[in-house]
Amino acid sequence: MIYAVIAVVLSYLLGSVSFSIVIARLVKGIDIREHGSGNAGATNTIRVLGKGPGLLCFVLDFGKGIAAVFIGRWLGLDGVDWTPAICGLAAIMGHNWPIYFNFKGGKGIATTIGAIAALAFVPALIAGVVTIIVIAITRYVSLGSLIFAALTPVLISIFFYSAPVLTVSLILCVFAFVRHRTNIVKLLQGTENKLGAKKGS
Ligand code: G3P
Repeated sequence: MIYAVIAVVLSYLLGSVSFSIVIARLVKGIDIREHGSGNAGATNTIRVLGKGPGLLCFVLDFGKGIAAVFIGRWLGLDGVDWTPAICGLAAIMGHNWPIYFNFKGGKGIATTIGAIAALAFVPALIAGVVTIIVIAITRYVSLGSLIFAALTPVLISIFFYSAPVLTVSLILCVFAFVRHRTNIVKLLQGTENKLGAKKGS
């Protein structure tokens, strides 16, 4: 049990390493949270710093979601999905509310995709393909993110994944919608920022 608790704490600390904040400080000496949409995430890093830093940020934020689940598998109880699932959740909580950055982080989508990919690969793959198509057509990353978050619990149910994986995917869906509430209002008003648009929203 103590190892499972250590795994969850480590996952939260790993998730708290907000790569958009780190990369923006290193590359331009700025706080990404004061630029563009103000979000500490890969989309805003693309908007403010360009594709290279933004994609690097996505890969690293995605990677910490995967890493957290593996930490959970490594330190958790054999054959029990709760530790890896809660470790994935802890990494996203770290990303959204990072201990190193005054608890002001991002919306957690890249890390959610990483954690879900490690917990439920086929649902993540299907939802990921749908997300990419939606973003390619509409240029709204936020809409794609919300679709990924909403679709994964549905697909996880269809493919009969375990209760811990389903429970965590439902919590992550709630997190995604709450963190995107400003984006949702803008999507409804038709004022949401499109990928590739010059000005941050
Ligand atoms: O993952 C974040 C994305 O869905 C929206 O980012 O910066 O446009 O609010 P942003």
